[in-house]
Amino acid sequence: MQFTANTLEHHWMPFTANRAFKKDPRLIVKSEGVYLQDHKGGSILDGSSGLFCTAAGHGRKEIADAVYNQLNVNDYTPPFSMGHPGSFELASKIAAMTPEEINHVFFCNSGSEAIDTALKISMAYHRANGEGQRTRFVSRERAYHGVNIGGVSISGMVKNREAFSGVMPNVVCMRHTWLEENRFTRGQPEHGAELAQDLQRFVDTYGGTTISACIVEPVAGSTGILVPPKGYLERLREICTLNGILLIFDEVICGFGRLGKPFASQAFGVTPDIMTMAKALTNGAQPMGAVAVSDFIHDTIMKAAPEGSVELFHGYTYSGHPAACAAGIATLDIYQRENLFERAAELSDYFLDAVFALQDLELITDIRGYGLIAGFDLKPGTTPGARGTALQNKLFWSGLHIKFTGDTGIIAPPLISKRAHIDELCKILRATLEDLNA
Ligand SMILES: Cc1ncc(COP(=O)(O)O)c(C=O)c1O
Repeated sequence: MQFTANTLEHHWMPFTANRAFKKDPRLIVKSEGVYLQDHKGGSILDGSSGLFCTAAGHGRKEIADAVYNQLNVNDYTPPFSMGHPGSFELASKIAAMTPEEINHVFFCNSGSEAIDTALKISMAYHRANGEGQRTRFVSRERAYHGVNIGGVSISGMVKNREAFSGVMPNVVCMRHTWLEENRFTRGQPEHGAELAQDLQRFVDTYGGTTISACIVEPVAGSTGILVPPKGYLERLREICTLNGILLIFDEVICGFGRLGKPFASQAFGVTPDIMTMAKALTNGAQPMGAVAVSDFIHDTIMKAAPEGSVELFHGYTYSGHPAACAAGIATLDIYQRENLFERAAELSDYFLDAVFALQDLELITDIRGYGLIAGFDLKPGTTPGARGTALQNKLFWSGLHIKFTGDTGIIAPPLISKRAHIDELCKILRATLEDLNA
């Protein structure tokens, strides 16, 4: 076998224009605090916390040490009918952060797995509750819930589903919440609570007793930060409660302080029945996802199974992996010790001021934001998405990483960021946008 060093050919990269990338690669060789370092030695400010993962900043030694120590003591424990202390400790820590009635945590390895797990728990709950006819899921246009078949089935983003036939049937999408009249709204928009009535219309059309769950990202993330209109989540909650439909919040991006509170649920004062989480759960240092479930769902599924039998036929080889649990425990300790959620809340006004100051730029057609996350739309060029890609590349070589979806940029600095980092971020963004426009 011939060994070819330094080839990029063999790795088929995810969500990447592979051919373009391999002609002009952008490799990160080091990361520390709020900065990344590329393979040419350049320093890059991380304006999206990686992919919304590294809330506590990169290179946290406490997390690395915890993982190293764990692997040296116990590297792997089968998670079926066996356990290790770390998963119970982490689950208790998570349960202490979630709303009062949500106290049971199921572990998996990613946000996508968390979504599939949440859908399956919803199905299992209704079956255990004698309502197995609830087979329909309600999602929303422009939703991103990961890439597994469950998540793609409830996806509202066309590119993520058009190549894949044979996804789950019985999914209906509510309208998304972007409205022209809400353009450049900071925080929760005034208009759009009535869009939650789409759920009521599905109840009226299909029958409330056929619907299993309604799932939303409280702030729609990957599509470009759509903050829920005032009253919108409350109305979804009401309709779900009245009709026995479970409300699932996908907190994969919103969770762990991004909105200035532990979860979006607390930020908006609306409690779902199930919450999915991942990403910042381990500060991105280990792959991990989790689903937190209300007591009534957990207890119903437990009680429906004969004593001594397996209650939920679901789980992964790496559910609650010891190294991931160690990373999660160390991460949550950092969040608490450094008051990072409170720091995010304190920095929010400064951050949003700085980002919304970009609205005078001709190329920007809308800005939205809440807490420490914001999205901006670019005036599209002739090929949709091309301008976003060009800007992302240019930003990278100008020293700023920002996640893009098509022509929409998403800014989500690490929660440890200082005002000077926000200034630096917006300065690079403005200069690069002006250059692109010239
Ligand atoms: C809201 C939401 N749900 C689910 C996922 C999927 O997470 P993962 O990429 O870890 O599978 C993502 C990823 O960005 C997300 O933003």
